[in-house]
Amino acid sequence: MSQRARRAHAAAAPLHFISGESAMKPTDKQRNVIDIGTLSISRRSMIRGTVAGITAGVLAIPASAEAQFRTPSGSLQIDAGAFDDTHKLKPLPYKAAALKGLSARLIESHWSNNYGGSVRALNATNKRLVAALADHDLPAFTYNDLKREHLMRTGSVVLHELYFDNMGGDGTAPADARCLIASSFGDFDRWESEYRRIAAGLGGGSGWVVFGYNRHFRALENYWMADHMHSPATTVPLLVMDMYEHSYQMDYGAATARYIDAFFANINWDRVMARIEAIR
Ligand SMILES: [Fe+2]
Repeated sequence: MSQRARRAHAAAAPLHFISGESAMKPTDKQRNVIDIGTLSISRRSMIRGTVAGITAGVLAIPASAEAQFRTPSGSLQIDAGAFDDTHKLKPLPYKAAALKGLSARLIESHWSNNYGGSVRALNATNKRLVAALADHDLPAFTYNDLKREHLMRTGSVVLHELYFDNMGGDGTAPADARCLIASSFGDFDRWESEYRRIAAGLGGGSGWVVFGYNRHFRALENYWMADHMHSPATTVPLLVMDMYEHSYQMDYGAATARYIDAFFANINWDRVMARIEAIR
């Protein structure tokens, strides 16, 4: 077995597919189980949570609580506190001009205006939520106007970061990725055909295409998403494609198919495989 084939086997086995063609039968030890053991919260998020809690009058975490919480096994990392209003733009992992078929002007505008706008809006929303929570006269339905914005901006920020991060490659899926995808879709081309068809169907409108691992079904699937807020439950995104018109209109106008080709030519499959590895 070649090194690449061994990697494919190692990457695939612990995911325990119960649908598709896979006949893999992992042991209990291999099952994808999340154990929570040492709960580690960074000083930054703990301090922020304390400040937010005191302001809102609902949460008071003593500074000494920065110490780790012991639970039976495993670990859970928490990097940001609730109501975090200090989210920063994540830099592109490549030069804006480095992508094939997508201009630097388009990528820079998308990154700074659309993605950046959501980062700024998320911070502003979280700041307002803290004040709104402390206002006991504020109707619950009005509070939820902010929670709706919170949900939408969170989805936009996360999906944009995943999208930019899974480009910058040469678009060539390695054998281990093709093997893994074929185990669920029958063959790799069938997966690509569906992903492209979902994207084409979103042309001229808005939404996302997400290839992901559904933890509940333990299955790899392509998902259609109409907006930032409605993602498939329990699914870990592995390959994300922005189908909002701002992703391609500047370069291609309404020619959606050309954008889809450009996206596929820039997929960073190493990043996709790293996300799969991180599930294990
Ligand atoms: Fe976008």
